Amino acid sequence: MLSVLAPFPNASRSFSCSSAVKQSSDLEVEVDPLRARPYAFAMKSVWLKNFGCQMNAYDAARLIGVLQECGYHVVKTPKEAHVIILNTCHIRRKATEKVFSDLGRLRVFKEGPLASKIVVMGCVAQALGEEILRRAPWVDLVVGPQAVHKIPSLLAALPQATGYVFLDGSAAEKFQKSPLPTLTATNVTVFLPIQEGCDNCCTYCVVPHTRGREFSRPVSVIIEEARSLLQQGVKEITLIGQNVNAYRGEEQGHSSCDFGALLFQIANLPGLLRLRYTTSHPQHINDSLLHAHATLPQLMPFVHLPAQSGSDRILKAMHRPYTRAGYLDAIDKLRSVRSDMAFSSDFIVGFPGETEQDFLQTLSLVESVAYAQAYAFKYSSRARTPAASFPDPVPEPVKEERLARLLDALRAQQCAFNQQSLEQVVPVLFEKPGRYEGEIVGRTPYFQPVSVCASQDRIGHRLLVHITKVLPHSLKGVVEEPIGS
Ligand code: SAH
Ligand code: SF4
Ligand code: F3S
Repeated sequence: MLSVLAPFPNASRSFSCSSAVKQSSDLEVEVDPLRARPYAFAMKSVWLKNFGCQMNAYDAARLIGVLQECGYHVVKTPKEAHVIILNTCHIRRKATEKVFSDLGRLRVFKEGPLASKIVVMGCVAQALGEEILRRAPWVDLVVGPQAVHKIPSLLAALPQATGYVFLDGSAAEKFQKSPLPTLTATNVTVFLPIQEGCDNCCTYCVVPHTRGREFSRPVSVIIEEARSLLQQGVKEITLIGQNVNAYRGEEQGHSSCDFGALLFQIANLPGLLRLRYTTSHPQHINDSLLHAHATLPQLMPFVHLPAQSGSDRILKAMHRPYTRAGYLDAIDKLRSVRSDMAFSSDFIVGFPGETEQDFLQTLSLVESVAYAQAYAFKYSSRARTPAASFPDPVPEPVKEERLARLLDALRAQQCAFNQQSLEQVVPVLFEKPGRYEGEIVGRTPYFQPVSVCASQDRIGHRLLVHITKVLPHSLKGVVEEPIGS
């Protein structure tokens, strides 16, 4: 790895233009010329494509803020960009391959009129480092996910002839040294990271290699960020972290604050209508979290609780620290404090050594829980993970067949769950305009998307909706009455 580069020419932090930019969840960013401030030096343009989880989306939003402070503006196509950035995901082989196929397509812009610089950041950057330069020597900069705030200075000091790799940095510094993401008037619901990294080391997973050890942000910083979001009109906050309910943050006057206690502090902030969190781990469903679900009306009765498998043998090989019975016990406990609690999950099929019997155990776990929705993936072997060298790989056609059976079961459950809403009246928090003119869309407490015909000024309001139609992945309805904004 190369040494640390010189900082960006001074003045870069002496002004901010982050409020000049509107940003949507897919990071298509528009500049509002009325709010843009004059730049101290020539303006440069940046185009960013985001892959992966909510944490990546959040990092990308912070990066945009850092770049704007340094005089960059965001453009809609790579053709217009001085700097092209891919914020990457390494979770499965396909995610990584997408990055290399995009890099192949983007190469042409290096030869274009802007002689664009190409940057690979995020989890592929951290995991593969210099290998990226070997496979795509036209890449200028490879940066790990904890060095978001350093990207302008790294860009300013790039060597001409060769690519550069920078994989240092800490989550703590990233959060401290980058501005909060800018909101738009229609940001009804936002992600707020409280924790990053993972100490679990599941044998199939790259996240501990890409995001590092668990780090919890201090309580005061989270509360301040939540307050600021709510003051700007946000109505729903989703707390995010790779292992969100393992949160243990520093709190003034106390040694540490656990996840349940943090939920109490956030739920009572003025203006918050709904509170969610993801991704939680079955190991950390403790009394404090159960108490929060039993007590806080703002905390939605919908939990994403990845099981991965229903077979004890496979859970052990995956190094998941619970048994099938333990997982079902966590589900029961959550349902005992909120009888309407609904669940989603992640499953992996075709883990090395998974037999038909093991797979049937997964299907029977699905049957026992009755999920509102869930994701299922074929096992993907990842370099540097223990499972990559496990014996007995499951043949691809068997994986395909098991995935299809599991998805059938999950789809049937999702349909059954959605069907229960028909002719019911449910509270919906409206988030954005719908696909068709005159429509707006929102979500039920159980995260089901709902569309209704209503005026756009209802966005940001929680209204009672009579559900009149159930579609495969969403609901349609008619607004009955408001229940307070
Ligand atoms: N921290 C979360 C999950 C993060 S990754 C948790 O522990 O549940 C999101 C999902 O990707 C995982 O839940 C898992 O189902 C899936 N996944 C991770 N590594 C995978 C691999 N090597 N092959 C297939 N799916 C994988
Ligand atoms: Fe990966 Fe396991 Fe950590 Fe989730 S808990 S991020 S699956 S190592
Ligand atoms: Fe992917 Fe990294 Fe998120 S590997 S799922 S972008 S933590």
